[in-house]
Amino acid sequence: MNVLSIFRNEANAGIEQGLPALLEKIYAERGWDFRGYKKMTLLRRISKRLQASGTSISEYERLLDSDPQEYSRLFSSITIKVSEFFREPEVFAAVAEVLRNEFCGTHVRAWCCGCACGEEPYSVAMLLSECLGMDALVKAKVFATDIDPDALEQARRATYRIDSMLNVPPEMMERYFIQKDGQHKVKYAIRNLVKFGTLDIVQSTPLSGMQLVVCRNLFIYFGKPLQEKVFQKLDYALRPGGLLALGRAEVLPQQFMPGYAPVGKGLNLFRKKG
Ligand SMILES: C[S@@+](CC[C@H](N)C(=O)[O-])C[C@H]1O[C@@H](n2cnc3c(N)ncnc32)[C@H](O)[C@@H]1O
Repeated sequence: MNVLSIFRNEANAGIEQGLPALLEKIYAERGWDFRGYKKMTLLRRISKRLQASGTSISEYERLLDSDPQEYSRLFSSITIKVSEFFREPEVFAAVAEVLRNEFCGTHVRAWCCGCACGEEPYSVAMLLSECLGMDALVKAKVFATDIDPDALEQARRATYRIDSMLNVPPEMMERYFIQKDGQHKVKYAIRNLVKFGTLDIVQSTPLSGMQLVVCRNLFIYFGKPLQEKVFQKLDYALRPGGLLALGRAEVLPQQFMPGYAPVGKGLNLFRKKG
């Protein structure tokens, strides 16, 4: 082990020790409850803020008091917004098949929980538009929620750069986007299907009566007990026979497995039994 790595380990140990107090402070001052998030991810994200501000963890608490903007920077750093349209296209293809074969005459209610800047709920809305008949589409709704109101503001603007759209098939690009000033704006017919709202899934009551719940790449940031607590909310939101999509690296908590059947292979797409 070289000197630098010993130093790094000591610094990390300091951050790890100071972490619970910092999380309590953030909760007390701002109401953001990151206490059940995965420790390693938090340590990585917080270390980045310490490096950027040149502070130790105890100095960082004082910095938060003197510069409230630092709370926003820390919040953005912890709530990572990476997303894209039709992320993991094979999952969307499997959902499309169920929509076409089974939900065609139904008034579908879908919920994207942890929707970042809107790429995922707009993808779901495009899928509904492709798969449902006109009558069903008129009554369909996609509820899109996230903890971060700034991300939702961006989502409502519905304007994207091409690099988040590489999975959009060319004919759908044509049908659902308008090109303007090198950017792509989602057309009104799709925007109109999506309703955005701020919702912290850790602390709020969930939505209900959904045929489709999409909660992907959010559980990966939660510790196991929090995953189970949040999963209970998703389960409550989903109707029997409805579909649940999790992210590729996420797992259904053990105690819920008997209530769900996988759809397709290795997709992390499940149907609620009952
Ligand atoms: C990595 S993005 C996933 C975006 C999209 N679901 C996808 O898979 O492409 C994770 C999102 O979860 C949101 N998030 C983090 N904690 C949350 C919470 N407690 N409640 C609701 N959303 C949360 C973040 O703000 C971020 O937008």
